[in-house]
This record gives sequence, C-alpha cells and structure tokens, in this order.
Amino acid sequence: MWAERTSHISLSGIREMFALAKPNAINLGLGQPDFDTPAHIKEAAKEALDAGFTGYTPNRGFPELIDAIAHYYGQYGIHANQEQIICTSGGSEALHLAFEALVNPGDEVIIPDPGFVAYSPLTRVAGGIPVSAQIKADDDFRLQPSTVADLITHKTKVLVINSPANPTGAVQRYDELRGFVELANDHNFYIISDEVYDRILYTGEHVSAGSIDSDRVIVVNSVSKTYAMTGWRLGYAIAPDTIVEEMLKVHQYIQACAPSISQKAAYAALNGTQESVRSMVEEFMTRRNAMMEHLKEIAECVTPEGAFYVFPRFFTSDTSLDLTKKLAQEGVIVVAGSAFGRFGEGHIRISFAASQQAIDRAFQIIKKLISM
Ligand SMILES: Cc1ncc(COP(=O)(O)O)c(C=O)c1O
Repeated sequence: MWAERTSHISLSGIREMFALAKPNAINLGLGQPDFDTPAHIKEAAKEALDAGFTGYTPNRGFPELIDAIAHYYGQYGIHANQEQIICTSGGSEALHLAFEALVNPGDEVIIPDPGFVAYSPLTRVAGGIPVSAQIKADDDFRLQPSTVADLITHKTKVLVINSPANPTGAVQRYDELRGFVELANDHNFYIISDEVYDRILYTGEHVSAGSIDSDRVIVVNSVSKTYAMTGWRLGYAIAPDTIVEEMLKVHQYIQACAPSISQKAAYAALNGTQESVRSMVEEFMTRRNAMMEHLKEIAECVTPEGAFYVFPRFFTSDTSLDLTKKLAQEGVIVVAGSAFGRFGEGHIRISFAASQQAIDRAFQIIKKLISM
C-alpha cells in the first residue's frame, strides 16, 4: 500500500526507550545539550521578529549568514564562496539533500556502524543500499581507511564519515581523513562529512575532511549542538557549487528556505561571543571524566574525545536492548548500541547531556543492576 521508500524504513530505536521508562526516570538518552540557547542569540531572534523578518529568504539562505558560515569554516581551512554553501532545516535536511543529489537506485553507500541513526534510512529513501563499515573498539572507534577500501565496489557512490562521532565520541585523525579522500578520488565516489559536533571536542583541533584537496566532499554541519539550538532547525552544507546546485533544487521544492528567524539567530551565534561554547564544553568534559570514573569498574569503555556520549560495553550477558529495557524499568534511560547498527550490539550509548547530580544518581542504579 505504501511506497517502498517509507515502508522499508522504521522509526528510530531511540524513541522506544522513552516509551518504556517510568515517570521521573533519569534521562541519559538525549542527543541534545541540556543547556539553553545563549541569551544574545535569543535576543537576535526577538529583534528579527520585531523587525518583521518573517518572510521567505533567498533559497540558499540570506547572504550575510552564508558569509558568516564561510568565515566560520575559514578556521578549518575551507574558503567557500556563496555558491558553495546552502542553509537547511538542520543538519538533518542537509544530509537528506546530499543523499538525494548523489544517490541513484542501486548505488551503495558506505556508512559507519555503529553510526548516527539517520544514515541508513536516508540511503534507503534515496533508493540506495547501505553498506556497514564496522568501527571497532580496538581502533578507539575510529573508522579505518582499510575497512572502507575492502568494501568498495563499482556501485559505491558515497562514504559517510562523522567526526566527532555519534554514538562513540571518536575523533578521526588527519591521516585517516586523508585516506578516505584519496579513496574517493581514486574510486570516483563522494564523501558526506557530518561535522555537527565539530566544536564539542576535548582534545586537539577539529579537522574537516572538506579541507583536504578534493571536489568530492560535502561537509554537513548545523548550529544545533554547538549553540544548544536543536529546536531552531538550522544547518548547512558546504560542497562544490555543482553539487550545491543539485541540493538547492530539492531544497527549493521541499523547504523553500530555512526558517527566517532561525537564520538570524544562527548569524548571531556564528558572529557573536563564543564564551557559551567554551563553558559548555568545559562542563561536558567534567561530566565525561566523572562518567569514565563511574564506568571503570563495571564496563570497558573507550574515552570519548568529542561529542557528549560514552559507548561502554558492560560486563553482563544481556543483549544491549535487554539491558536498556531493564535500566528503563529501574528509572534510567539510555540507548541500546544496536540502535546504531548491528556492530553496536553489546554496547550502550549514555549521554552526558544531563546534570552531574543526575549522572551520579543514574550510576548508583546502573551499578546496582550490573552487580545483580
Ligand atoms: C551525527 C549527527 N548528525 C546530524 C544530526 C542532526 O542534527 P540537526 O538536524 O539538529 O542539525 C545529529 C543529531 O543528533 C547527529 O548526532
């Protein structure tokens, strides 16, 4: 009855846990910062409203915002012009547009596994075939170019990379990114580089795959995580102008433009003080360290270098789904690793976008359950 493109995908497994949990459960399942959008950003949105900035904007976004995005990516060595940038309704829409512009029915898309829940369904919606590239705890959860190389066929059209990564917090090294780009250049496929956690980093500097010489990389980012603006729905893509033009066609017909007020807010976010980002990341780092301390005795866990998740393997014989169900019944919401792909099985994603107090209380419950 329904079109194959929707009947072959299902709702994200993350939502299931929320349904199971008892009221007042401690929520360590969240994929968004537990911070409010900084005041100066809200102020800019209020001013835009009062000034009547409430109509359609140019399809790709208003020019000052595009310039601000270009300037922001200048810090990573990408010097994009207006034609190489498109503003979207969150990074999610930018991902969708990239798949729609690149993937033909039957094309293969190599996706990190475990990886962000949208990559596989978006591949399918575009008619493509998701191919899992296993990420191993032994490699500190960093996708390896050799793993990708083994999966390349004449049907490979896209490789998705994500650094810092959801659900593992892994951060790819420059040499690995260069390895992916060389493979893309040699085998004529494209790279979608999802960089929405670029600023939520605990060691080193963010490297964008888009800064490595190639006309085959589409960078996706948003203001969602960096500026605690998930509900504003403002993202963007940076890519060669020919690809952006294809994305723009789809965007024009499904979205017209990203929300006007959110564009003004994003402009204020990118141009204004970055103090809120610094203090949020500092707070996340304190919580990450506390979480690693809690996990020491009860799980194997790679220390995340970015994002706000840990991805431990607990010393238990339960499947990850059974364990998350038990935890939900005891009052702690986390996400089963299997929600992120078959190679996520055995792991649990725990978000530290929650107060220190909530984390400490949750771990009392987790430790009790694990030792039973
Ligand atoms: C890796 C990754 N990419 C993209 C997104 C989409 O974010 P947004 O659409 O809010 O920009 C998320 C959200 O959780 C994510 O974790």
